[in-house]
Amino acid sequence: MSAAVYEATTSAPVNIACIKYWGKRDTKLILPTNSSLSVTLDQDLLRSTTTSRADPSFTKDRLWLNGKEEEIKDGGRMDNCIKEMKRLRKVLVEDKDPNAPKLSEWKLHIVSFNTVPTAAGLASSASGFAALTTSLASLFSLPLNPSELSLIARRGSGSACRSLFGGYVAWEMGSKPDGSDSLAVEVAPQSHWPEMRAVVCVVSGEKKDVGSSVGMQLTVETSPLLQHRIKYVVPERMEKISKAIKERNFDEFAKITMADSNQFHAVALDTTPPIFYMNDVSRNLIALVEEYNRVCLEKTGHLGAAYTFDAGPNAVIYTLPEHIKAITELVLYFFPVPSAPAERSTQASAVGFTDVLNI
Ligand code: DP6
Repeated sequence: MSAAVYEATTSAPVNIACIKYWGKRDTKLILPTNSSLSVTLDQDLLRSTTTSRADPSFTKDRLWLNGKEEEIKDGGRMDNCIKEMKRLRKVLVEDKDPNAPKLSEWKLHIVSFNTVPTAAGLASSASGFAALTTSLASLFSLPLNPSELSLIARRGSGSACRSLFGGYVAWEMGSKPDGSDSLAVEVAPQSHWPEMRAVVCVVSGEKKDVGSSVGMQLTVETSPLLQHRIKYVVPERMEKISKAIKERNFDEFAKITMADSNQFHAVALDTTPPIFYMNDVSRNLIALVEEYNRVCLEKTGHLGAAYTFDAGPNAVIYTLPEHIKAITELVLYFFPVPSAPAERSTQASAVGFTDVLNI
């Protein structure tokens, strides 16, 4: 008789925030200084797929990322997630069922691939830690819902907690010191507003100079504007954008998304030393979308697109189906693709549609 194989494979998508998470009040538990909200780009192009296997013959936990073995540092983020999942396996499954195999005591081999195109320059840590969490939850048969799992993904990378849901997702900052109420909740499923489209404009695939974790803590330590933002700006925006999503009000959604991206980059600039994530191409993309919106407003009384930039120069433009053609043509007209057209990829998706333009 062959021995049972304990293995599970799951995948998780990338999410792009409309209200940005920037700052931790607890760096160990990864508790944010403000709530945030994102849209999950739920399609095949931008996701992580992770396989976890537990076996009594394994001698240590090991991880391979995109085919290359990475060290699992003791007490590091990956280690924290794995330990927490093993603890939950013991408490929720093994302590209750004496016949359940003691997977919590076995070592793990974890293999993860990102289908985020390398040139996309999009953080894969969000989809990566979300996929790690769901694959271990499946391997360990944990009876946990996505919000409960988001608590563990959060310990890997803050923004990862939002990739546990598709559609429109809030990460509520919570107030408990142990972080047990700092979790992701669904604002609306993707099916509530399936017209939403995301155009990813790849300005640069290079690694950023100042990583998110380091950058946001410098901002927490030095930016007076951040204190204003977390106290007076974000709470109201969270309310307003959730309402806009529930009412499928694109004008309001777009206004808040662009304002929040701009304020996030303003607090980066307000940091000492200042952090510049956008470059000239990013700023020209902003000008293009602002001008497009001005014309749309004049003609129809409504906005047509919303830009947002994470900790890097690449733009994500949220828009609606009737604007997709004009937006992609305008972007490619003003920012011609330097590489072969084959390098551009277009993909229908559950968020609607994500077009990755390498500009
Ligand atoms: C600008 O989630 O990558 O993308 O928690 O330190 O891993 P850590 O940071 P991370 O930061 C994401 C910052 C952001 C905004 C956002 O996604 O909300």
